[in-house]
Amino acid sequence: MTAQLVETIETTIQPNDHPYMKGAWRPTYNEWNAIFANGDAEVIGNIPTDIDGVYVRTGENQIHEPIGRYHPFDGDGFIHAISFKDGRASYRSRFVRTKGFAAEKEAGRSLWAGLMEPPHKSTRHGWGAQEWLKDSSSTDVAIHAGKIISTFYQCGEAYRLDPFTLEQHGTESWVPLDGISAHCKVDLATGELMFFNYSKHAPYMHYGVVGPDNKLKHYIPVPLPGPRLPHDMAFTENYTILNDMPLYWNEELLEKRLHVVQFHPDQKTRFAIIPRHGQPEDIRWFEAAPTYTLHWLNAWEEGDEIILDGYYQEEPMPKSYPNAPDGLERMMAYLDQGLLKPRLHRWRFNLVTGQTKEERLDDRDLEFGMFNHRYAGKPYRYAYSAIPEPGWFLFRGLVKHDLNARTSEEYAFGPGRFGSEAPFAPRINAKDEDDGYLVSFIADLETDKSECVLIDAKNIAAGPVCRIMLPERICSGTHSVWASGDDIGMGGNSVLAA
Ligand SMILES: [Fe+2]
Repeated sequence: MTAQLVETIETTIQPNDHPYMKGAWRPTYNEWNAIFANGDAEVIGNIPTDIDGVYVRTGENQIHEPIGRYHPFDGDGFIHAISFKDGRASYRSRFVRTKGFAAEKEAGRSLWAGLMEPPHKSTRHGWGAQEWLKDSSSTDVAIHAGKIISTFYQCGEAYRLDPFTLEQHGTESWVPLDGISAHCKVDLATGELMFFNYSKHAPYMHYGVVGPDNKLKHYIPVPLPGPRLPHDMAFTENYTILNDMPLYWNEELLEKRLHVVQFHPDQKTRFAIIPRHGQPEDIRWFEAAPTYTLHWLNAWEEGDEIILDGYYQEEPMPKSYPNAPDGLERMMAYLDQGLLKPRLHRWRFNLVTGQTKEERLDDRDLEFGMFNHRYAGKPYRYAYSAIPEPGWFLFRGLVKHDLNARTSEEYAFGPGRFGSEAPFAPRINAKDEDDGYLVSFIADLETDKSECVLIDAKNIAAGPVCRIMLPERICSGTHSVWASGDDIGMGGNSVLAA
């Protein structure tokens, strides 16, 4: 390994016992460049020569002592990326240089209170789509028009970074006033990016499409009955799927600037199905059983139906977390997938009858699903879900589903080892849908090290075929993306000098 410590960001966090600032969620502050080759002491197994692309993972990594109670979703966006070509790997880590990052660096302290505190505790207004929260650009990453787009789940700006160097290019100019939410989706077949946003003012949601030329080509209102909390979207070759779920803020309390989430089991889940470039009058609404779904897998068209896979929460409003520190009971409950009980589920929307049919695909707690993105919007066979660690927002392993054969296999990362969402990296000239690798970053609490693992997707139970030890243990994170060099549209990948 050739490693270069590029910068250390100054932290003001005081010693504390917050459950999401220790263990796998312990923040780190070093930004690295590192190069790995086969034969290096840090490489266990062999770096494959048959992949070309980059794995990008973001996450929340708080820099300053929080104002009041800390929710891990308040943390500053920190991106870790590792690219592969010709059997070599290049790792880089960088904080997202948001407007909040710059302002708090200058002030030497937190300026904005987080999600669990009242707005008046923030010392400044927010900016963009946020009245009082800091858009920390920490939730999701997509790769579109040759650049990483880094986003925030409560809506905000879209920060642009080079996928290989992590050089930062400011924010996308096409983002509307209401911002964009996390989980915009890229159709590799057309180069289009579909996105949505949501807000506390009518019409409460919008939907948009950005062309492969990185210009906004479509933007329409999707009127909702009130403020809602959609988190993810899906698309097929011709349609986009948005949602209105019966878990949302109490509107009376919201007028007093209090953000209290309630589930309404007497209300249906509603799905908006919109032709990709359709108008508001083209939106068709479908009803389904009440639930909340954080993340969808894939969707596609089949005859008269649109089929959508995702994770149906059995308990969208969980009971309070047992033995949580004072004031953190609700936060810890909503982060515990073992309490929310998300189950792999399939919805079928019949465009002729207007009816919805639902089917449970698995009874285990699973979330953060990935699949081969070359099949996005099309029929697919293989899904890769993360297995939650009971009690925590952590993942202890992966499940591969063969959705045609209705079989599955598991891989556990091992005791004290927690992984990230694991996207699929296709082999060069892949012949099958599962011809490739699952890529993830692991935090090993027993050795206090982090590593990148590559797992043969055709045999996940065998565990990693390659492990690459990173310069230091990194903080657990949220979402990730794989982009092959060919799909990035920048003339392919290049492994950089450290
Ligand atoms: Fe998410």
